[in-house]
Amino acid sequence: MSSKEELLKEAARVRDNAYVPYSKFKVGAALKTASGTIYSGCNVENVAYPQGTCAEAGAIAAMVAGGETVITEVAVIADSPDPVTPCGGCRQKLAEFCAADVPITMATTDGKQITLTMAEILPGAFATHHMTKT
Ligand code: THU
Repeated sequence: MSSKEELLKEAARVRDNAYVPYSKFKVGAALKTASGTIYSGCNVENVAYPQGTCAEAGAIAAMVAGGETVITEVAVIADSPDPVTPCGGCRQKLAEFCAADVPITMATTDGKQITLTMAEILPGAFATHHMTKT
C-alpha cells in the first residue's frame, strides 16, 4: 500500500468518529511525520458553532502532543461531491508544519482525489520572514 493510500485509509477510518450534530458533514484527516508515524483527527463541532474544530486541526494537535512537528504528507477525506479542501485557517495551520512541497491529498469517500502541494493550496503563506525587516 502506498503512503497516500495508507493515509487515506486512516483518514477514512477516523472520519467515522467525527462529532458533527450541526453540519452532519464528517471529515477525516491523517498526516505522516518525518519519523513515519501517522496521526489523525476528525472534526469536532460545538453548540457554540465557532468553537468547533476541523479534522486537520485535530490531527495536528495529536502530532504535536506526540512530540513531532515535521509533516511529510497529508490526506483529507469527506463525503463531498468534489475532493474536500482544507479551509483557509487549516491551510495556515498546516503551513506551520509542512514544507512547500509536501503533498496534500484531498478525497471523496467515493474515490475521487486530487493531490496538490502545500504551496499550491496556500501560495504566499504568511511566515516568520514577514516579521523580519532586514
Ligand atoms: N471541516 C473540516 O473539518 N475540514 C475541512 O477541511 C473543511 C471543513 C469541517 C468543519 C465543520 O465541522 C464541517 O466541516 C462543516 O464546515
